[in-house]
Amino acid sequence: MPKIKIAPSILSADLSKVNQEIKEVEKYADLIHVDIMDGIFVPPTTVDADFVKTIKTKVPLDVHLMVHEPSNSYIKGFIDAGACSITIHEEACKNPSEQLDFIKKNKTKAAVSIKPNTSLDKIKKYLDIVDMVLIMTVEPGWAGQKFIASTMPKVKELRNLKPNLDIEVDGGINPITARIAYDEGANVFVAGTSIFGKKDRIEAIKEIMNGLK
Ligand code: DX5
Ligand code: ZN
Repeated sequence: MPKIKIAPSILSADLSKVNQEIKEVEKYADLIHVDIMDGIFVPPTTVDADFVKTIKTKVPLDVHLMVHEPSNSYIKGFIDAGACSITIHEEACKNPSEQLDFIKKNKTKAAVSIKPNTSLDKIKKYLDIVDMVLIMTVEPGWAGQKFIASTMPKVKELRNLKPNLDIEVDGGINPITARIAYDEGANVFVAGTSIFGKKDRIEAIKEIMNGLK
């Protein structure tokens, strides 16, 4: 199983002082998860590439595009803004391999995500080209939702298929649900509310980590 990584999601942070917020978790974060929503694939809109450019951190930026048919130039904007990995949604793209190839060609890690009701079969053809798969554990669009446990068989099947692949889970992750997903084979844990919703963010990360021991 690959290394465990904790990815605080800044969706739940105070974005008016995002660099200060990131500073607080920097020492214990393996990735900083940045949610991009377009108002089409998901109803809300969030930050854009210009905002991502203003983020100053040594921690790799994990950009999650909840975006309908992201174009090459749109994706390039995030690569130029400093993204280390870019995740696209299978449901959002007519031919996801076009976006995945473009991301990889630009020396950036490429990942594909599926929503809770999308079957793993839909992305099996990409498993040899992606660096990571994101199994959504809530419906994308909002922080603070309840973890959907029925997504876990997908994590388990994927781990059996790909022992060394980074498998990320996102949505409703806290010390208890992280452990559930870990036991099925997930190794990358996105957490918004359960980290930035707490006063002591370091303690919150440690609680998640301790649950995985
Ligand atoms: C939801 C986003 C998540 C969100 C998770 O669509 O993709 O990354 O920030 O927030 P929590 O951890 O609060 O469920
Ligand atoms: Zn996300």
